[in-house]
Amino acid sequence: MTQNSKIFLENAPIGVFDSGIGGLTVLKALQRHFPEESYIYLGDTARLPYGTKSPETVARYATSLAQELINYHVKAIVIACNTASTHGLSAVKALADDIPVIGMIEPASLAASKATKNKHIAVMATFGTIKSGAYTKSLLNFVPDCKISPIACQMLVALAEEGWVDGTIPRSIIHQYLDPIFNQENAPDTIILGCTHFPVFEHLLRDILGMSVTFINSGEAASFHLSEHLKEASQKKIGGVKFFVTDDPLRFAENAIKFYDETLKPEDVTLIDIKG
Ligand code: DGL
Repeated sequence: MTQNSKIFLENAPIGVFDSGIGGLTVLKALQRHFPEESYIYLGDTARLPYGTKSPETVARYATSLAQELINYHVKAIVIACNTASTHGLSAVKALADDIPVIGMIEPASLAASKATKNKHIAVMATFGTIKSGAYTKSLLNFVPDCKISPIACQMLVALAEEGWVDGTIPRSIIHQYLDPIFNQENAPDTIILGCTHFPVFEHLLRDILGMSVTFINSGEAASFHLSEHLKEASQKKIGGVKFFVTDDPLRFAENAIKFYDETLKPEDVTLIDIKG
């Protein structure tokens, strides 16, 4: 590698993708940890949700998004979507070759395995992530005698995309999903928010479950893993994000605030077409 290409690589952006807007919760965490880095965020809003689609379809979508990011010469790819990580991580890694690829499942499992005291962990995720058993397998690698309670909460993705994160309807849906698991002896002491859309419900979840439960946020967990690949980071970078979506930039910009804590202007978000 020449000196020029090395400097170019250090200053290249980090690519982040999700099925839609949920990955902004990961981007927010990455920016908090690495504010000097620049980012490209790609939300596949045209093909959302991923959580109800087959593994093959999600893997195909994930590789098409990764290819788009590779075309922008990113220096690392963060799959800010648990479902795409579940079904597409190995295909994206093969495509990306020597570009580091960070998925959501292993970092969150590791963080949960360190957090649990009673060795009972709940996983809230999409239908596809739960059905795959990816979290159960990964958690058992870290804590072989752990009890795992997987909960497919697909309905929460739609509520989050709608920006409907408060009030009686999300509250009663959360009760519906969680009560069978939490109204029992030795309930989980740790919950993996195993869908990047779900951190927006953390305040409601805390209200319902109390302060004794630890929440594992995919973005925070993945930041730690990314840090291992940014050791040679230059100190002089300027930060910043370019946002791309595959449908309706206006809706994305309007809803971003709940996931990102910052307002996006419609002109900050560019519409692109993805083949594949
Ligand atoms: N945000 C995605 C995840 O982390 C999936 C939501 C969806 O498209 O169903 O799993």
